Amino acid sequence: MTTTTAPLLDVTGVTMRFGGLTAVNDVSLTVGEGEIIGLIGPNGAGKTTFFNCLTGLYVPTEGAVRYRGTVLPPKPHLVTQAGIARTFQNIRLFANMTVLENVLVGRHTRTREGIFSAILRLPRYHHAEAESREKAMELLAFTGLAHKADHLARNLPYGEQRKLEIARALASDPGLLLLDEPTAGMNPQETRAAEELVFAIRDQGVSVLVIEHDMRFIFNLCDRTAVLVQGQKIVEGDRATVQNDERVISAYLGAPLESTTPAAPEDTQ
Ligand SMILES: Nc1ncnc2c1ncn2[C@@H]1O[C@H](COP(=O)(O)OP(=O)(O)O)[C@@H](O)[C@H]1O
Ligand SMILES: [Mg+2]
Repeated sequence: MTTTTAPLLDVTGVTMRFGGLTAVNDVSLTVGEGEIIGLIGPNGAGKTTFFNCLTGLYVPTEGAVRYRGTVLPPKPHLVTQAGIARTFQNIRLFANMTVLENVLVGRHTRTREGIFSAILRLPRYHHAEAESREKAMELLAFTGLAHKADHLARNLPYGEQRKLEIARALASDPGLLLLDEPTAGMNPQETRAAEELVFAIRDQGVSVLVIEHDMRFIFNLCDRTAVLVQGQKIVEGDRATVQNDERVISAYLGAPLESTTPAAPEDTQ
């Protein structure tokens, strides 16, 4: 790139159709270095589908996703390798592995040894193990889970499972972290702590794109917020721009802004 102002993430005209349904309709969005960007919208607006288009789970019907100026191949492991990590709306942890092991799995894209080597403990694995464990423990300390390192993931309370997903995502050393409803199911205290965590992640040099229903969380954190309604981005801007926009107000009419109606569980959520 010839310019230093190229955005970290540059999404241009992404459309995702499922048969007759246009879940994401010509959405463009950028995320710059050091930015925290919000993505809000009613349930079914296409937010998770948009994330799936960014992370290679879906191949967009139209449009392009560029990361650091390069078009991303639509394959999840290549997207992770390129530097984008994510968490899922429906938590996806290895329930019967420990907290530490879950983070080590997230680390495997950045070590020469693969996941099978890690799980099977092949001899060559031991060389990389000490370093990976140290990094994983650092991330657990960073997310406030170090004291639970040896607990099984399934035994963590919900809020801590969400934090563990973030720790695992960070283990791949991302430049951009995508969070899909990170505070869903959290109590107000956990939500405030999650805000601090997102700021701390940004302060480590990781940009963040976050989907959330909790408006206080979004407006406390985000430099800009984009609003999706029926697959289309209807407005993007700062708090005042979004909150005073008539289309946003009418899109949320009948549904309080803080509503957190759970979406239907789907494998891609
Ligand atoms: N794999 C899929 N096949 C068909 N329709 C889908 C698929 N994934 C999502 N959709 C539909 O796309 C729309 C947007 O869903 P989603 O992205 O989950 O919305 P949000 O995350 O904003 O609540 C919904 O109507 C949903 O049913
Ligand atoms: Mg969703």
